Amino acid sequence: MKSSRLFPVSFLALIAVCCLAPAILNSNVAAKTTYVEPGAVKPIDVNMHDFMEGVFQAPYKRLKIAMAQEPADNVAWKAVRSDALILAEGGNLLLSRLPTENQADWVKHSELSRDAGGEFVAAAKKKDFAASKAAYEKMLNHCNDCHKQFEKGRHILTP
Ligand code: HEC
Repeated sequence: MKSSRLFPVSFLALIAVCCLAPAILNSNVAAKTTYVEPGAVKPIDVNMHDFMEGVFQAPYKRLKIAMAQEPADNVAWKAVRSDALILAEGGNLLLSRLPTENQADWVKHSELSRDAGGEFVAAAKKKDFAASKAAYEKMLNHCNDCHKQFEKGRHILTP
């Protein structure tokens, strides 16, 4: 009598374990791979330090020299435009590298830095030094806003 009441319960438990076990195993496997849907952005697996050093630092250092005076010729303007574009697009790349906390602020800093970078690219295309310089400094202010909040004020960049 007792065992006949328990049977359906233990049978259901057995079914549940059999059905859930593969799903749990699969989700563990999925978490360890970096598979993304075809056509989706797939960030390269580096930490934030290596990302900033690898993507943002070199163009920033070149611009600091290049923007100290008006670029002399077409070649010099092209180099400025290229570095401005790398930093502007870099703002987009930051959007797929969200921190665990304060994500909305991270997104805001990234978008503002990206958009000022876009203004910089457009001004450099026109070889307008005054407008380029203004957009460059505006972009750096947004870089620094993120560094102030997420880097405790380290890496405050100067034009
Ligand atoms: C949304 C946040 C955010 C924005 C926007 C941002 N950064 Fe950073 N940046 C960081 C963080 C976080 C670090 C610290 C990384 C670390 O060392 O862990 C950093 C570090 C750096 C460093 C130091 C790298 C090193 O070698 O230690 C440089 C240079 C830098 N950023 C340049 C820039 C420039 C230029 C811009 C704007 C065009 C910018 N960053 C915009 C978050 C940001």
